[in-house]
Amino acid sequence: MKIAVLPGDGIGTEIVAEAIKVLKALDLRFEMETALVGGAAYDAHGHPLPESTLKLAMQSDAVLFGAVGDWKYDSLDRPLRPEQAILGLRKNMGLFANFRPAICYHELVNASSLKPELIAGLDILIIRELTGDIYFGQPRGRRVSPDGAFAGAEEAFDTMRYTRPEVERIARVAFEAARKRHKRVTSVDKANVLETFQFWKDIVTEVHKDYPDVALDHMYVDNAAMQLVKEPKRFDVVVTGNMFGDILSDEASMLTGSIGMLPSASLNASRQGLYEPSHGSAPDIAGKGIANPLATILSAAMMLRFSLDQEAAAQRIEAAVKKVLAQGLRTADIFSEGTQRISTSQMGDAVVKAL
Ligand code: IPM
Ligand code: MG
Repeated sequence: MKIAVLPGDGIGTEIVAEAIKVLKALDLRFEMETALVGGAAYDAHGHPLPESTLKLAMQSDAVLFGAVGDWKYDSLDRPLRPEQAILGLRKNMGLFANFRPAICYHELVNASSLKPELIAGLDILIIRELTGDIYFGQPRGRRVSPDGAFAGAEEAFDTMRYTRPEVERIARVAFEAARKRHKRVTSVDKANVLETFQFWKDIVTEVHKDYPDVALDHMYVDNAAMQLVKEPKRFDVVVTGNMFGDILSDEASMLTGSIGMLPSASLNASRQGLYEPSHGSAPDIAGKGIANPLATILSAAMMLRFSLDQEAAAQRIEAAVKKVLAQGLRTADIFSEGTQRISTSQMGDAVVKAL
């Protein structure tokens, strides 16, 4: 089992270190190799996704990823910005299916900004298409000013685009996932305005014919954004495009109390996967030892389940996280009256002890 470890920037290094601690505490053998990615790779090699890092990722069974990005790179040309590393990994590895579960642990029901009764028992799975849509549309660009400068551009454009096979395969992933859950899929689109999403809706409806045991409904993205905070428990599996999935998964994360709790898995057709917390690099809190490593630790559990075929180990990690929460141990983001506030590394240690 070969794991490429790409901690990245900001809190990425701190949280990945805790996930590694947990993986090493299992009685399993892994080959782990670490490489630079994002701003850290740009600083060292002049590129956010060096050839050697991409090669390591492609040759591994799974990638454990931290986070990338920092404001200090905002002025770089787009292809050199840290975010391009994760987009490049997704595209090159064909990681089209992004699983972002939003589960509310009952111990954290008071950590959410929503009323406890709205979110108690919440268990939603957002499935975000990850290699198409406006993120990868062509053409894209800015119409430069007569003197050739971008700064003076008069127009900018990104094109939204999906192909039939791209929509079909993500629809199948969603229906298959729903079969193992409560058998309900909500497909989120903007078919009332965008051609791309009328196309999306039509194809999802077609694919649904192969899954008569699963209920399908369609929802416009603006309504979905509202329903997620109004009545989140109405959802089971939500399937949507790259851009809407990016936005809705951040929204859904706060239903669970903290974005610091949300793991994610990005899979390709051969189950090779990249595992990362749903949150970003949070440069404002980097190095302070206050980041929540649980999203990354839970991502490592997803890695064991989906790419390394170690279901039992995945469940052990998930049970250990529940135990630590039940013990009242909390990082700052999920701290509330009556619980014990601990640091990033203390949280990793607590999970290891619970294991
Ligand atoms: C995410 C992030 C990324 C995205 C960024 C860092 C490129 O927000 O994984 O949700 O937009 O997909
Ligand atoms: Mg995002």
